[in-house]
Formats: sequence, C-alpha cells, structure tokens
Amino acid sequence: MASRIPLLAGNWKMNLDHLEATYFVQKLVWLLRDARFDYSRCEIALMPSFTSLRSVQVLVEADKLKIRYGAQAVSVTTQGAFTGDVSADMIAHLGCSYVIVGHSERRKYHPEDDVNIVDQVRAVLAAGMQPILCVGESFEERRQGIELDFAVGQVHDVTRDLSDKEAAKLIIAYEPVWAIGTGMVATPDTAQQAAKAIRDDLGEMFGPAVADTVRILYGGSVSSKNATHLIGEPDVDGFLIGGASLDPDELAKIARLT
Ligand code: G3P
Repeated sequence: MASRIPLLAGNWKMNLDHLEATYFVQKLVWLLRDARFDYSRCEIALMPSFTSLRSVQVLVEADKLKIRYGAQAVSVTTQGAFTGDVSADMIAHLGCSYVIVGHSERRKYHPEDDVNIVDQVRAVLAAGMQPILCVGESFEERRQGIELDFAVGQVHDVTRDLSDKEAAKLIIAYEPVWAIGTGMVATPDTAQQAAKAIRDDLGEMFGPAVADTVRILYGGSVSSKNATHLIGEPDVDGFLIGGASLDPDELAKIARLT
C-alpha cells in the first residue's frame, strides 16, 4: 500500500481577512513549534479567501514556514473579460499548492456542476497545482441508501477523462453535505466506506498505482474530539476542515492527533 502523507487542510471559507490571517499563521506556527511538530508526518495547508492569500504567502516565504496554502475556488478561464473571476495562473503565481474545486457551497450558491468542475480541475492541473475535489451526498441520498453510489459517481463523472498522470495529482475530499457545519460528524466507518468505494473506483479507472497515490480526505464537523478515530481508518488520508480550522489552538491540536 502506498505511504500517503496525511493532509490537514483548513478551509476558512469567507472568514479571516488579511490581518486576521497574518495573526493566525503566526499563532499556528508558534503552537506547532512549541509542540515540536513534525511536518514530514502530516502536511498542513491553509485555504484562505483570495484577499488573504498574499499575506499568507509573504509570511510563509519570509520565514520559510513548512505550511502550504491554496485557494477555495478558481475560474475556468485563463484571462480576459471575466469581471470578478480569478484564474488558476493568478493563484499559482501566489505560490499556492492546492485549489478546492466543487465544494458543496460552491455548487449550491454558484452555477457550478460536474461539467464546469471538470474544467476547473483541468485549469488547476495546467497551472501546476493540485485540485482538492469535493464530493458527498445530502441527507436525501443517504435516506435513499444511495450515498456511496452518489459520491463515487461525482468523482467518476469529473475524473473519467483525465489521464493517469493527471488523476495521480488529484486529492479527493469526501464531505457529506449533512455533516458540514452541523456538528453531525460521520462515523469512522461511514468515512471509511466512502473513501474505499471512491478509491476502488479510481482503481477501476486508472489502475491500482494511481488509486493508491490519491489522498482521500474527510470533511464535515471535524474536531480534536473526533479526528483520532477518523484518521485511524485505512483509506482516510486527512481532513478538509471548516469551522475548527478558524481556531489556531484547535487546528494545532488536530494536527498533533493526525
Ligand atoms: O470544506 C470543509 C468544510 O465544508 C467542512 O466544514 O465546519 O463542518 O468543518 P465544517
């Protein structure tokens, strides 16, 4: 089995402006240094709003911090008359490693569906970054008992035309919509079942080597109270964290447990 380094990604959503981001990074790094945190054991990435990316970049590069960072969304176009959009190249030029693609809140509040999500994945890959592709069922799909087929289908529909090389760069975040922001964290078994089903389908499409390489994160009410049990599952390779990632103490605690 491939040794996948766990990834702890904090999705700040529309929180923490550039001044708060500066304070957050300094506090988080201080806490981790104090705890003699081993970054080779667990990778940490912060996903701030566009307006805070530069502040994070300046701190990380100036102090040679081992934290990575990325954006929460991306335009499918490269440049031109697209008011308000931000291209993958612009994000890459800020030193970003990752871009969240297809988050349920983007699918809900913006015209984003599997078709243009494919284009976003390709734009992120073309700019030399890794997409964190978000999938996950709602209460309704779970009530109907089709939650695994639904989540696997979302990954399959977006990735099936990628090359093996492109697919190997993917990161998947299984985020059941009913667990996001609700405190109703999925059980370790639920997270494991979904991650394994997704990994098995990736294996069918791209072969075992690619399937073994792709990191599959869990997202949805992760906290320091439940992280240990979730990360103990063989196909869960880390977390995409919302609310708990806004508190440096809590994020440092989760990092130490991962
Ligand atoms: O992208 C991660 C996010 O959707 C999870 O949010 O607040 O339930 O950790 P939260």
